[in-house]
Amino acid sequence: MSLYQKHLQTVTQRFDKALADTGFESALIYAGQPRVAFLDDNPAPYKVNPLFKYWVPVLESPKSAVFYRKGSGKPTVYLFQARDFWHSQANIPEQDWQQHVELKVIDDLAQLTDDLGDQLAATAFIGEDFAQPVSDWNVKARNPQQLIDHLHFHRAIKTEWEVENLRQANRLAAKAHVAAKKAFFENKSELEIYSDYLKAIDFRETQVPYNSIVALNEHSAILHYDVYDTQPPKQSRSFLIDAGALYQGYCADITRSYAKQSGFYADLVEAMDIAQQELLTEIKPGVNYYDLHVSMHLKVARILEQFGFINIDAQSAYEKGITSAFMPHGLGHFIGLQVHDVGGFLQDDKGNSYPRSERHPFLRLLRDIEVGQVFTIEPGLYVVDQLLEDFEGSKDINWAKVDELRPYGGVRIEDSIVVGEAGNNENLTRDAFKELGAE
Ligand code: GLY
Ligand code: MN
Ligand code: MN
Repeated sequence: MSLYQKHLQTVTQRFDKALADTGFESALIYAGQPRVAFLDDNPAPYKVNPLFKYWVPVLESPKSAVFYRKGSGKPTVYLFQARDFWHSQANIPEQDWQQHVELKVIDDLAQLTDDLGDQLAATAFIGEDFAQPVSDWNVKARNPQQLIDHLHFHRAIKTEWEVENLRQANRLAAKAHVAAKKAFFENKSELEIYSDYLKAIDFRETQVPYNSIVALNEHSAILHYDVYDTQPPKQSRSFLIDAGALYQGYCADITRSYAKQSGFYADLVEAMDIAQQELLTEIKPGVNYYDLHVSMHLKVARILEQFGFINIDAQSAYEKGITSAFMPHGLGHFIGLQVHDVGGFLQDDKGNSYPRSERHPFLRLLRDIEVGQVFTIEPGLYVVDQLLEDFEGSKDINWAKVDELRPYGGVRIEDSIVVGEAGNNENLTRDAFKELGAE
C-alpha cells in the first residue's frame, strides 16, 4: 500500500468518525475560487482550502470539490477544468491519488449538484461560499464549527505521507536558504537575496507558504518584515531569513540568522543556536508545549544575563516580564497543510479549547506533545523598542548593551520537528541542511 493510500485511509476514518459524532451523512469540501480585487477584474492569488488538499494534492484547480459519504470509504473528486480559452488550465500530472478516488472531471458546477442530487440536503459544506452558485446550494450546514473542530483536532497527528511531504518541503526550503545565505555574504540587497532564494527552487512568489521575511540589519527586529529594500545597505552586518517552501501542499517554515563578521552578534547567534538545540532535547511525548515555551524563556533569560543585557539574574528577568519584551512571540506552532497549522488550542475533538495564556498571549500551541505531531521550535531575541518602552528607565536592563544590538536587529533559529517515541524525534530542517552539506 502506498503512503498516499494509507494517508487516504486515515483521512477517511477521521471523516467517518467526525461525521458520525456531529450528525452529518456527508461532507462536501469545496476547493474555493479566487476573489477579485475591489473595483477590478484582477484576481487575488488563489489559496486552496486546506481541508481540500488534506484529501488530494491538488492546489491549482479552483472550483473543484471533494464529496465524501460517511462509511463509503472512497471520496469523489470533482475536478474542475474550465472550458476557457482565456486561461491555461492546471496541468494535473498522473499521480497515485487518482487511482484511489472516484474522479469526475467537470466544467460546470451544475454537474456536481446534479450528480449529488438529494444527498446535498444531508451534507456539511466546508469551504468559502462568497460566490454563486455555491452560496445558493441547499446543504444541511455551512462550515459547522463542531465538525471543523473535530477534524482540526485530529489533524495534529500527521500521517507518514504528510511527514514525507514535509520532509520534501524542508529539502526545497533548505536549498533556497543556502542560496540566500550566499547572496547575503555577497552583499546583495534584500530583494536580490530573495530573488536568489526563489530562483534556487524555481518558485514564484505566490507559491511560497507565507510572506518571506528577508531582513538585513535593524530590519531583523521587525517580526513580520516583508518589504524588501531594493538597494544593499552601506554595510550588511546581520541577516535574518524566515522563509519556506511548499511540497504537495505541505509547508516548510525555516529561520536562520547570520553574522557578517565574528564578534558580539556572531556569538549571540551561536548562543541562540545552542539554546535551540537544548530545547530540541526537551521534546518528549507527555510534556506540555507551554512548559517548553517557559523553558525557552528561561534560556533566553540566561543569554540576556550572559551577554550583559540585564543587571538582574535570569529567573528575575523572566518573572518581571523582561524576557517577553525581548522575545514576544511563541516558541512555535503546529505545521502541516498550513504554516500555522490548526488545532493548537483544542483540548479534544468536541471543540473544548484551552484559553490563550494571559502571560504568553502569542503562544498558539498549548497541547501536550504526542507522537506524530509536527511543530516548529523557534526561539529568538530582538530589540523591539515599542516593547522595551514599558521598562524605560529601569536599571534592570543594561541599555548600552541594547544599543549595541539595535543595529543588528535580532536573532531567531527555527526548525520543524516530528515527534517520535521517547524523544526519538526527527528534525526535518537540520536533516535537510545536512543532506546539502550546509550545516
Ligand atoms: N514564518 C512564520 C512563523 O515562523 O511563524
Ligand atoms: Mn514558524
Ligand atoms: Mn518562520
